[in-house]
Amino acid sequence: MNKIVIAIDGYSGCGKSSTAKAVAKDLGYTYIDSGAMYRAATLYFLDNFLSPTNPHDVEKALGSFEVSFHTNPDSGQQETCLNGLNVEKKIRSMRVTEKVSEIATIAAIRKALVAQQQKLGKKKGVVMDGRDIGSVVFPDAELKVFMTANLDTRTERRQQELLEKKEMVKFEVIRNNLAERDRIDSSRSESPLKKMDDAIEIDTSEISFEEQVAEIVQVARQII
Ligand code: C5P
Repeated sequence: MNKIVIAIDGYSGCGKSSTAKAVAKDLGYTYIDSGAMYRAATLYFLDNFLSPTNPHDVEKALGSFEVSFHTNPDSGQQETCLNGLNVEKKIRSMRVTEKVSEIATIAAIRKALVAQQQKLGKKKGVVMDGRDIGSVVFPDAELKVFMTANLDTRTERRQQELLEKKEMVKFEVIRNNLAERDRIDSSRSESPLKKMDDAIEIDTSEISFEEQVAEIVQVARQII
């Protein structure tokens, strides 16, 4: 069977990661969470008191952090490692979430992570989600999806996710963070988030998770 690359981009908190994961599982593909890589880079900056606006600090970070993924043998879930240490939980905290879009504007950081993402997708059979996957990482992806959902729905879903992890964060704090990340991600000069002309758009505000996964899998199967 013909293996393809599926690029899923869209706004923060649209459910891209869980959708991409389910699509990959259904097709027997590898799921790659590009956002986790920017989050791990952000954790490195924070933990080492590095400033994203100081070129020496950026250079120092570039030579010192390595992001990798490993599969948790108990849950079967993919987890993110920074320099060999499992940081899956840390990179989902509000501390990292509040800073990640700033770190993701740094051209040198993007260049390094995009090269790694392209390497991971070289053999195809991958579903990767992020903000620039269909535009920069895999402009030739056979299937591009752009996911949207209204801000209040996204906020409610994210608050629920955080609650399940016992992190209580106010609705307004989450809403402002999602809106601010969208603003930075869409307006940055380096690889801004935008819908590509050849991407199919899925608004997940009113449809169920199962429906959005089924729609992508169905289109993918027509290509494969
Ligand atoms: O996907 P997730 O919400 O975990 O991504 C965290 C942040 O990383 C985004 O808000 C965005 O600033 C950045 N990002 C990016 N390009 C990607 C993936 C994520 O700029 N391909």
